[in-house]
Amino acid sequence: MSADIKYLTTAQIREDFLEFFQSKGCKRYPSSSLIPDDPSLLLANAGMNQFKEYYQGLKTMHEVGACSCQKCLRTNDIDNIGDSRHLSFFEMLGNFAFGGFSKEQAIAAAIEFCTAPEHLGLPMDRLYFTVFTDDDESIELWQKYGADGTHINRLGEEDNFWAAGPTGPCGPCSEIYFDQGEEFGCGSPDCAPGCDCDRYLEFWNLVFTQYDRQEDGSMPDLPHKNIDTGMGLERIAAIMQGQHSNYEGDVLRSLLAVGEKLSGKTYGGTAGGADRSLRIIADHSRAVTFMIGDGILPSNEGRGYILRRLLRRAVYHGRLLGIDGAFLTKYAAEVRSIMGDVYPALVDNAALIDGIIAAEEERFNATLDKGEALLDAELKKLEEGKDLPGEVAFTLHDTYGFPIDLTREICEVRGHKIAMDAFDAAMADQRERARAAANRDAWGKFNNVWTALSDELVATEFCGYDADQVQGATVLAIVLEGESVAQAQAGQTVEVVLDRTPFYAEMGGQVGDTGFLGGNGAGVRVTDTKHREGDLYAHVGEVQEGALYVGQTVDAVIDHGRRELIRRNHTATHLLDAALKLVLGEHVSQAGSMVSAERLRFDFTHFEALTKEELERIEGLVNAEVFAAEPIVTKVMGIEEAKASGAVALFGEKYGDVVRVVSTGDSSEPFSRELCGGTHARNTAEIGMFKIVSEGSVGANARRIEAVTSAGAIAYVDERLALLDTVAAGLKCRPADLALRVEQVQREARDVQKKLQAALAGGSSNKLADAVAGAMDMDGYKFVAARLDGVSGKELRNAWDTVRDKLGMACACVLASVGEDGKVALLAAGTDPAVEAGFAAGDVIRQIAPLVGGRGGGRPTMAQAGGRDAAAVDDALNKAKELLGA
Ligand code: ALA
Repeated sequence: MSADIKYLTTAQIREDFLEFFQSKGCKRYPSSSLIPDDPSLLLANAGMNQFKEYYQGLKTMHEVGACSCQKCLRTNDIDNIGDSRHLSFFEMLGNFAFGGFSKEQAIAAAIEFCTAPEHLGLPMDRLYFTVFTDDDESIELWQKYGADGTHINRLGEEDNFWAAGPTGPCGPCSEIYFDQGEEFGCGSPDCAPGCDCDRYLEFWNLVFTQYDRQEDGSMPDLPHKNIDTGMGLERIAAIMQGQHSNYEGDVLRSLLAVGEKLSGKTYGGTAGGADRSLRIIADHSRAVTFMIGDGILPSNEGRGYILRRLLRRAVYHGRLLGIDGAFLTKYAAEVRSIMGDVYPALVDNAALIDGIIAAEEERFNATLDKGEALLDAELKKLEEGKDLPGEVAFTLHDTYGFPIDLTREICEVRGHKIAMDAFDAAMADQRERARAAANRDAWGKFNNVWTALSDELVATEFCGYDADQVQGATVLAIVLEGESVAQAQAGQTVEVVLDRTPFYAEMGGQVGDTGFLGGNGAGVRVTDTKHREGDLYAHVGEVQEGALYVGQTVDAVIDHGRRELIRRNHTATHLLDAALKLVLGEHVSQAGSMVSAERLRFDFTHFEALTKEELERIEGLVNAEVFAAEPIVTKVMGIEEAKASGAVALFGEKYGDVVRVVSTGDSSEPFSRELCGGTHARNTAEIGMFKIVSEGSVGANARRIEAVTSAGAIAYVDERLALLDTVAAGLKCRPADLALRVEQVQREARDVQKKLQAALAGGSSNKLADAVAGAMDMDGYKFVAARLDGVSGKELRNAWDTVRDKLGMACACVLASVGEDGKVALLAAGTDPAVEAGFAAGDVIRQIAPLVGGRGGGRPTMAQAGGRDAAAVDDALNKAKELLGA
């Protein structure tokens, strides 16, 4: 360390800078998020970002100016990170003014902070300055405040004109350099600030922001002359600590130490090898920790892609260093411990940061293993000095998630380059395909989220054959209203993907499990579990407490009791299938099934209704297997072996090469043996009792049986018994006497019926007798009109027989009745002599039936009609008399 420079820690410099500018009237602002509030910018890249609207005059600051220590991320040069200078994430100390103080005040303050013994106390003779080409004013000002005129250079637009992005506030700038000494120089007589060598280190940039660059390139003046300065904290810390690399200041040095410990390698400050990897991991792990802390998640585009690239590059360099297994969260912990007091988001989001890092790292390690083997095989095939085909690099990128710079790195170590033209062409093709797919998916946003997730995530590991719970499962994704999100709050209904789970996802007729996901302050009541693309299991439910976030670990616990019932019903379905084949024949084949906690439903091919005896035999066979208490044996085997063993497979179902075979017992010819991925009872005895509750038809040649088992069967029987009790109580007898009692009640009812009919018939026959007695003499026949309520149409015909018996050869009648049910019956009838004398039964009925709301007719000798309007019966009879002239 130079004897003439005092030692200051990063924390001391940061705090001193902010206090210094506060003492000059600037308001101290916390750093803004790495996600800028500015769509023209991907990531925060300078302290001035958060003040853009003040520069543009859209907002007014009442203080003289502002100061801050800003989190920044610059990745334009990701491949260079790893040398001794470049960083992706860094901290920028800055002071800003929007007309509030002048260029002169800014320059004076900068010199004061750099040289005053109570601040940095840097010797003036080691400071150098650059100014924009024609900025004479700055040259004068630097000199006025003590700079040596020979230490001031003019530089062009490339070095000394600063802009945050392609458009927006910008202006000429002036930089302060520290001279590390001749021994760091290139020796060229032209060596000066701005030279590529390491002698002069730029550490503070003062921008005189006075233009607002437009889309068309024009640069109108901003409303004020502004100040925007930025000092690289890592750079000045290294200087104040007598180090020559950004990485050797206290903060990054402690991250290098994490890697030294993990890898057993010692950092030596050289350009390549282990030192380079140690630097890359130190830088990238810090960037990743800060990015996730600010809510950026790994993805395949935008900020998320930058995060993913940095994280993966760090993981890869961990491999180069020989670090075993996942390690990045160890760096995250160190970042928190050294920077968490200044950046509270690191501590507040610690679990999220660790969870996401661990999940992403694990996934990448798995693909790296596969990809590395592929790349290794390809490189072995390559002749010395030949380029790796671009298509191979593309496959590695596309299928194994290898960022191109990783592939390049591995290739370079082995002395090869990549044929980039072919790689770029394959990438362009892929973008075109993605555009087409995006159009297609725009029609089905919901599907799209699962398609995307299935690309990113590996299949959920199901642990629920034996276990009811899994501790510490990782939340890999949360889907809220069809979108993949990072977090969900209490009250929101979500679908959660875990890395492993005891929850069975609805499949093969068996319903999904319910239960609870809990831990780290969050709780989700799971009401269903569904199978999604890529064998991802979606736990559907409501967040009941806390916040759930991707990366969080939770304990996943299914509703044990419900699952036990489902297991029993599923095994009973297999037994039923076997029993149906035995009783009905081998043509029986499963056509569908539904297995829930409450019941099972089994559809099968068969051509007629099952008889009572068949149903009893089927039930009996299943129950015999239940009482035999056979253990359920599951084996995983090749599909051919399974089929050879006689296992029942579903017609038309596609099976993989390896299948799960579920048998009752271990004998070579078990009662049941089926290919099945579902969850089953451990022993048939758990089924307890099997009871068929219904049998019926479902379409042509298919029948459906519904049945219940164990607790469900008992509930079913209890319900039936309760019904018997209710009926017995109503009939005032014991349930055991019900059959006799019912017979007795039916007999009584029949007797009552008979008596009633006799009484009614008796009543009407009186009326009929009266009517016959009062028969009218017509021209050539006798005529009777009568109303005989309470009798049916058939009984009206009997009544006509009575009339004819009483009145002799030439007679006719019109009879009407309102039955017990309120319906009207009309009848007209006459003997042949009456018809010859002019009576026409059919005509009469046709004309009077409409009066009672009916229609009818018939022959001249006999006609009948029905109707609904009982109130009009008398009108109908009167009308008949009128027609006949009676
Ligand atoms: N905004 C200026 C820079 O980033 C200070 O260099």
